[in-house]
Amino acid sequence: MSTTAIQTATVPAWVFGAKGMLAGELLRLLDLHPALELKGAVSRSEQSVVSAHPHLVTRAKTSNHDEALAALASALAGGGKAVVFLALPHGESAALWAKLSNELGALTENLYVVDLAADFRLASPARYQQAYGHPHPAPQELARFTYGLVELDRAAVVGAKRVAAPGCFATALQLACVPAAEARLLDTSRPWILNGITGSSGSGVEPKPGTHHPWRHANMWAYSLDGHRHEAELAQALERCGAVPPIHFVAHSGPMARGIHMTAALPLARKVTTAEVHAIYAARFAGATFVEVLEGKVPDLRSISASNRAQLAVSVRGDVLNVLCTLDNMTKGGAGQALQCANLMLGFPEHWGLPRAGLGVN
Ligand SMILES: NC(=O)c1ccc[n+]([C@@H]2O[C@H](COP(=O)([O-])OP(=O)(O)OC[C@H]3O[C@@H](n4cnc5c(N)ncnc54)[C@H](OP(=O)(O)O)[C@@H]3O)[C@@H](O)[C@H]2O)c1
Repeated sequence: MSTTAIQTATVPAWVFGAKGMLAGELLRLLDLHPALELKGAVSRSEQSVVSAHPHLVTRAKTSNHDEALAALASALAGGGKAVVFLALPHGESAALWAKLSNELGALTENLYVVDLAADFRLASPARYQQAYGHPHPAPQELARFTYGLVELDRAAVVGAKRVAAPGCFATALQLACVPAAEARLLDTSRPWILNGITGSSGSGVEPKPGTHHPWRHANMWAYSLDGHRHEAELAQALERCGAVPPIHFVAHSGPMARGIHMTAALPLARKVTTAEVHAIYAARFAGATFVEVLEGKVPDLRSISASNRAQLAVSVRGDVLNVLCTLDNMTKGGAGQALQCANLMLGFPEHWGLPRAGLGVN
């Protein structure tokens, strides 16, 4: 297909939760996408897109849910495809998906849905309840969503109609641990110790005491010492490769606005060298557009800031495998990953609209 032909065949896109942090990032990325055409930035408020996100240049106005549903219905009624991104708080996505299903009925057959919240990430309602502290709002819908960590299961995402984009910490946790678990390198009887630091944008767009600049700037602290929700996504992935270790993940709030730095200290089950482990990780991610396994250097945040790339590095010390991972929570850990999934769902090149280079200076 020629570029011109691809550009003519645009797919209309709607972003729900338009005022939010990830919606802003998604709208920025969509601006550069050659085949997705933003039709609606959907919000509960009437605030314009550029007043909510002054860094954007879009002329798109916000639309309310009723306007968006009517526009979606008319786009789908013509037999065309449409994509919706649900950049909503946990629980709101499941409610909106129920509304879309009810009101659009059979038209949802041509609707591609990417959920950025946690509502459809865990296949087991019991695991969801344990992680989120309440019963799953729509357990009957879980099997209709595919988990969208492309670098671990690309085939599941290609052509899928409904995808749950992984959590930001959960992405780093899985990229760091799964290759070693699949290769049976790790001891599952000893704890797997994971420490992750996130930037303040991980807390969303509404100001909170923990995101207030005088408090956050040049500061750092740990939270969720009794277990972080994103451990459930790692446990789900590890179970699929036959590993059920004790997972000890401690999350930290860091002084930057964007980025996650993860350090995994994983107990080895057998003797192995750094070079052997590097070869395993490099082979696992061979051909991955957005995961880079470094050799002889460590990942850092500036290199991946505002890019859809994750960086990894491995190192063996005694009977412990250290894995480092950095990614941008807003991009590879959020909006970028969602767009990467949409590209594969719709048959577009995986990288469309997605930066690989980091900002360098943030
Ligand atoms: N921030 C990250 O780094 C990150 C990374 C990965 C995944 N996630 C997940 O992605 C989703 C969006 O994250 P975010 O950081 O963009 O969140 P956010 O900044 O809080 O934005 C969520 C948006 O959802 C809309 N909304 C609809 N119903 C709402 C309600 N009842 N209460 C509050 N807001 C409501 C609001 O937009 P309108 O006012 O325009 O309606 C709000 O701005 C969340 O589920 C989050 O956990 C976040």
